[in-house]
Amino acid sequence: MLTGATGSLGAHILYQLVGSPKVRKVVCLSRASSHADSLDRILDSLKIRRLVLADESKLVSYSSNANTANLGLSEEEYASIEEEVTDVIHVSSSLIYSSTFA
Ligand SMILES: NC(=O)c1ccc[n+]([C@@H]2O[C@H](COP(=O)([O-])OP(=O)(O)OC[C@H]3O[C@@H](n4cnc5c(N)ncnc54)[C@H](OP(=O)(O)O)[C@@H]3O)[C@@H](O)[C@H]2O)c1
Repeated sequence: MLTGATGSLGAHILYQLVGSPKVRKVVCLSRASSHADSLDRILDSLKIRRLVLADESKLVSYSSNANTANLGLSEEEYASIEEEVTDVIHVSSSLIYSSTFA
């Protein structure tokens, strides 16, 4: 599971993970109005950086809010993450250092 894929470092990490034969799936969590919007934002971020995923079907993207219960996901989505996720890479980071961020 990866956060921050709409940003610079996260986009590059996503690119590397998807290109690795050891990684079956990358679940990205990002701020967005919907899961479709989350995916669009990540694909835009990759495009801007000229990063082409080796296999886009490995990417699953959820709109999420780290400050709400179950990360803002449905019970089913959260349960699937609990069951499937083996590693968490938390890259999202507010670069406004005077504000709080979970
Ligand atoms: N870029 C580098 O070369 C580099 C190298 C070493 C370390 N780092 C560190 O890695 C971290 C990310 O850097 P970056 O260059 O990738 O920054 P960035 O391009 O500004 O990306 C920041 C990411 O964090 C998310 N984010 C920011 N505030 C958030 C919030 N309140 N809630 C949820 N998500 C939030 C952004 O999501 P939205 O798209 O929704 O805003 C975006 O995905 C920073 O701590 C930086 O110091 C970066």
